[in-house]
Amino acid sequence: MANDTYRVCIVGTGARGNAHAKAWAESGEAEVVAVVDVLEDRAQELAAAYGAPHVFTDYRDAVARDDIDVVSVCTPAFYHEEVTIFAAEHGKHMLSEKPIAMRLDQADRMIAALDAAGVVYVVNYQSRFGDGPAAVRRAIRERALGSPVMFRMHSAAHIRPKLAMHDMDRGNGGPLNDFMTHYFDYWRWLTGTDPVRVSAHGFTFAKDRPEIAHFQNIAPDTATVALEYGSGDLAAFSISWGLPPGVQPQGRIDDILGPEGALAPTRPRDGFKILREGGAVEEFGPFSGDSQLLLTQHTLRAIRGEEPVQASAADARIALAVTWAVYESLAQNGAAVDIEL
Ligand SMILES: NC(=O)c1ccc[n+]([C@@H]2O[C@H](COP(=O)([O-])OP(=O)(O)OC[C@H]3O[C@@H](n4cnc5c(N)ncnc54)[C@H](O)[C@@H]3O)[C@@H](O)[C@H]2O)c1
Repeated sequence: MANDTYRVCIVGTGARGNAHAKAWAESGEAEVVAVVDVLEDRAQELAAAYGAPHVFTDYRDAVARDDIDVVSVCTPAFYHEEVTIFAAEHGKHMLSEKPIAMRLDQADRMIAALDAAGVVYVVNYQSRFGDGPAAVRRAIRERALGSPVMFRMHSAAHIRPKLAMHDMDRGNGGPLNDFMTHYFDYWRWLTGTDPVRVSAHGFTFAKDRPEIAHFQNIAPDTATVALEYGSGDLAAFSISWGLPPGVQPQGRIDDILGPEGALAPTRPRDGFKILREGGAVEEFGPFSGDSQLLLTQHTLRAIRGEEPVQASAADARIALAVTWAVYESLAQNGAAVDIEL
């Protein structure tokens, strides 16, 4: 680093590329120097918004530049492997969107390249960052709900407008990879122990939808899953992101239950409550702080060697191993599958 301002390249300028650019700018310690998207208009727009001088449609032209210190990897998950390995080989630090990749062999090649290069690589698990998540974690670690606990999550949505989410080959691998990776990482971070076994039943509700008929391999979009942790805690979740367009059921559940109470919501932005016997309510928060900015600032401190990486490639590989154990159990009609880490 020649000076105190880190020079950033954003690869992928959709929703997340924009969120990364905003946080880099707000950090006050970084500037967006190059912007890449296969859709040039999108890249131009983001570059204009942040005053980035260089726009590319091929990430290699941008990432290889000498005036880039850090790469924000914001493409769909299928492309994370090639961008990450190329950036590692060029000595660039990275803040990468989750999930780390589509498949475990991809993640293993990425981790080998990152280790060989010795660059900092942080995964965008923003749920870990901020006073709210820290307070939830303290409550779980101190057994404020008693022991064991059960994490619950229920989410239902119509088939995603971003169709790549449903593509098992070149997209994001369905909600069990794209979305649940957040929870697989977060629940493990709360318990402090690794997931050990999973049992899952499910369907691909959207398998005959014309919108995604061009994908050769459509990801499972609907499942009910029991996930066991080394601590003896349990996660129970159901998800369907394969409903017909316009069907958006209400009533998402996201809480933690224990013999001495219930905590909600699990991933607080503003505050959370613990409900106790007899109707007593303990309130936590409100919390302030922007989790994306906090994660970005953490990435800069990790690059400077001031603190160890949180949300590492190894953490993200464990979340991906859970996803693949779920897929395996689904294929075996709910058979219990040990999670090999
Ligand atoms: N952290 C979170 O809360 C969160 C939320 C949503 C999505 N995500 C993750 O962020 C990533 C991107 O999601 P998104 O919602 O921003 O998607 P998006 O579709 O809005 O944007 C992705 C962009 O990448 C571009 N792109 C695709 N292949 C490329 C390539 N090879 N080189 C350069 N650009 C390429 C696309 O043209 C598109 O503009 C995914 O991994 C997704 O799972 C994370």
